[in-house]
Amino acid sequence: MIRRALIGLALFSLVLSPLAMPEDVRLPGTPLPAITAQEHELFRMGLEDFTEVEGASDGLGPAFNGTSCGACHNVPVIGGTSTITEVRAGYRDDEGAFHELQGGTLFHLFSLPPHTCQPKIPPEANVIARRTPIPLFGAGLVEAIADETITAGEDPEDRNGDGIRGRAARITDVVTGQSRIGRFGWKAQHATLLAFAGDAYRNEMGITNDLFREEDARGFTAEQLKLCSVTRGLEDIRDRRTGLRGIDNFTNFMRFLAPVARGGISSAARAGEGLFIAIGCAVCHTPVLMTAADRNPLFDRMAVALYSDLLLHDVGTGDGIVQASARANEIRTPALWGLRFRRPLLHDGSAATPADAILRHSGEAEGALKAFLSLPLASRQQILAFLGSL
Ligand code: HEC
Ligand code: HEC
Repeated sequence: MIRRALIGLALFSLVLSPLAMPEDVRLPGTPLPAITAQEHELFRMGLEDFTEVEGASDGLGPAFNGTSCGACHNVPVIGGTSTITEVRAGYRDDEGAFHELQGGTLFHLFSLPPHTCQPKIPPEANVIARRTPIPLFGAGLVEAIADETITAGEDPEDRNGDGIRGRAARITDVVTGQSRIGRFGWKAQHATLLAFAGDAYRNEMGITNDLFREEDARGFTAEQLKLCSVTRGLEDIRDRRTGLRGIDNFTNFMRFLAPVARGGISSAARAGEGLFIAIGCAVCHTPVLMTAADRNPLFDRMAVALYSDLLLHDVGTGDGIVQASARANEIRTPALWGLRFRRPLLHDGSAATPADAILRHSGEAEGALKAFLSLPLASRQQILAFLGSL
């Protein structure tokens, strides 16, 4: 009870106090400006559920990666990222073809006591990958970008000869069954926040729900799973008072979460942005995509300054895991907004600084990297100043 009250107080100040501040000092974690009172209530309930710690009796486990969404999305505030990494694994045969082991690639970090269902990566696995959490600030705007806006940037055959072969992730949306363009996740594996919420509730926490009805746990036997599962049936049930499921609440929180406002823009940062565009970084890190027409004014034809084309690319950093529409070495261009609040960088957290991350680009980004390296030191510093302002 006391813990709840304290969290309530902290969330209250987190949500409300920055609203009064001018745009340029607005802290991350606030809802989109101009949301209605009703939307604010949905956002608040969503935030509460997003930070709620679940236990075995709520359906947690038997194997899991975290006990709440907030456990991994909390830096610099709830909704952000964290230093936790998850593990995926699989098998690449002599011909280079990728195979899932035991029907999937996720191997959970933790299990409920007495740990009979603690995942073990099978000895035949020869690909092991780590992935960092992706911050959720501005996710509702990303969701509101039309599929056609993303596919318009594709050039898989490299017809313009710039060496960049961006490819849209064609996936089937689990909510509607429709063919959509994925944009969420390092592999652009989902198109909607509801689908990702369902996936995360089951995959991260082991809580089955309307969209993902079976436990997804590997690294132990089916017999063990039967013994370890404490709860039976679907674990994410509708709240009797609100009629909402956990996955609806998570979605509302993420949808109404504002993007991180730009930091101070120095003259160096402004010059750096010009260079960033001139040397080809912006081909993939597209400065702005527009949302589609939308009945809700919050999402209606808004400029989304995310610095990503939301396409899959091979920039030589790939994790070897085939997932949804993404090939083994393709990664979706990460959005760069809010970069100044984010460490570590790259999908696996292997880069400590933006400069380190840039030096790791090769493959399709070879041309941009060469152009970056051939710039005088002062110009490179301007690009870093620009990245530091995001
Ligand atoms: C154990 C840590 C962990 C927990 C717990 C967790 N996440 Fe995540 N989240 C991640 C990681 C890692 C990724 C990147 C996953 C990937 O693409 O493979 C991610 C990505 C996401 C994304 C994609 C964002 C984007 O813009 O691409 C969404 C949405 C998301 N998480 C929502 C949730 C929700 C909702 C919950 C709670 C049900 C949750 N997460 C719980 C680690 C976590
Ligand atoms: C061909 C497309 C492409 C080009 C060109 C490109 N990038 Fe990237 N960038 C990516 C991809 C894909 C990643 C993610 C790689 C990973 O995580 O393994 C990335 C990651 C990053 C990151 C780390 C972001 C994070 O959240 O981890 C930074 C910073 C960055 N790029 C800056 C630049 C700069 C500066 C340039 C120009 C010199 C550039 N990029 C050119 C596709 C591109």
